[in-house]
Amino acid sequence: MNTTPRARVLTGDTPTGRLHLGHWVGSVEKRVEMQGEYDCYFLLANMHAYTTRFDKTEEIRRDTIEIVKDWLAAGIDPDKATIVLQTEVPAIAELTWYFAMLLTFNDVMGNPTLVHELKTKNLADSYSFGFPMYTVGQCADILAFRPTFVPVGEDQEPHIEMCRKAARKFNQIYCGVSDRTPDDGYAKAGGVFPIPRALIGRVARLPGVGDGTQKMSKSLNNAIYLSDSPKDVQKKINKITTGRQSPTEPGDTGNILFKFVEAFIPDAARTAELKDRYARGDNIGDGHVKQELAAAINDLLEPMRARRAEFEKPGGDDHIIDIIRQGTRRANLVAEETLYMAKQAMKMDFGRRTLG
Ligand code: TRP
Repeated sequence: MNTTPRARVLTGDTPTGRLHLGHWVGSVEKRVEMQGEYDCYFLLANMHAYTTRFDKTEEIRRDTIEIVKDWLAAGIDPDKATIVLQTEVPAIAELTWYFAMLLTFNDVMGNPTLVHELKTKNLADSYSFGFPMYTVGQCADILAFRPTFVPVGEDQEPHIEMCRKAARKFNQIYCGVSDRTPDDGYAKAGGVFPIPRALIGRVARLPGVGDGTQKMSKSLNNAIYLSDSPKDVQKKINKITTGRQSPTEPGDTGNILFKFVEAFIPDAARTAELKDRYARGDNIGDGHVKQELAAAINDLLEPMRARRAEFEKPGGDDHIIDIIRQGTRRANLVAEETLYMAKQAMKMDFGRRTLG
C-alpha cells in the first residue's frame, strides 16, 4: 500500500452567481480531474463576496448554496474532495492578519488583478478598506492548507504570486529558512509553508459570446452557464460574430468561433477538418460550425443537467448544507494544525486550542 500522503490542492470560487464555461475550462474541469488523485480542498470564498456586497446577505447565502450545486453538477464529488466554507474556518481570518504584516501596502495595491478590478468595477474612491484586503485573505485561504498546487484561471495568477511571496517571507523570518532556498526546497529546509504553484487551465481566457473582445463574465452578460438549457446554449452560441460574409470566403481560424471550437469540440480530427475547410472557404458557414459547437457543448453539459436535477428536488438545500458542514469540519483539522505550526514559529504558542 502506498502510504505517502497525497499532495494537497486548494482552490475556490467567490459566490457571485452561477458558474459558466469560462470557469469550467479555467479551473473546474481540472478540479474534477484532480480530485481522485490529490487531497483536494475547494473553498467557498463567501467572505470575499462581502467585500463589495456587504449589504446583500440574502443573495450571498443563496449564491453560496448555488455554487455548491454547480460544483456537484460539474462532477465534484464530496466523497473525494473537501468542500470548505471560508467563514467557518477561523484560522483563515487569523492568518490573514499575520500575512498582512509580511506584505507591503504596495504589494497589495499594485496587484495587477486588484488594479484591474478597481478600474472595471467602477469602485473609484468608494471601495471599502476591506476590499483590497481580500487579496491578503486569499494568501491565507491557500496557505492554511499548505497545498502543492492551486488550479486557477489566468486572472488569478497575481494572487498566487503574492501568496508565494508571503509564504517565502514567513519561512525566512520565522523559520530561519535562507532566502537563497529554491521554491521547492522550503518545506525541507524547515519552513511551515511549501511554496504553492498555480496550475492554469487548458484555456487561459475564454471569450464571451459576442465579438470576442471581452472575456466570458457574468457582469458582461456574455456567459454560457453550466446550468443553461440546450436551447439557450444554441441561442447564445448564435450570438458569436466573426464578420465573415459567406461559406465560400476563406475564414480566419484564429477567430472567436474557433476559440470555442478548440475549447469544446472534443474530437481533434474533426476540429482539424473544420479548420481546414473553414480556412479554404470550402462551403462551410459560421451557422454550420455553430450548430456543431452547440451540440458539443450540450454533450458536455447534459450529464451536469442530470446530476443537478437530483438536488433541485425538495429538501435539496439541506443536503447541500450538510455537505458544506462535513467538509468544513475536515478542513478545520488541517487549517487549525497549520495555524498552530505558524503560531509556534512566531513564538505565540500559549497552548493548543480546539474548536468545539
Ligand atoms: N479570488 C478567486 C476568484 O474570484 C476566488 C478565491 C478565493 C480563490 N480564495 C481563493 C481561488 C483561493 C484560489 C485560491 O475566482
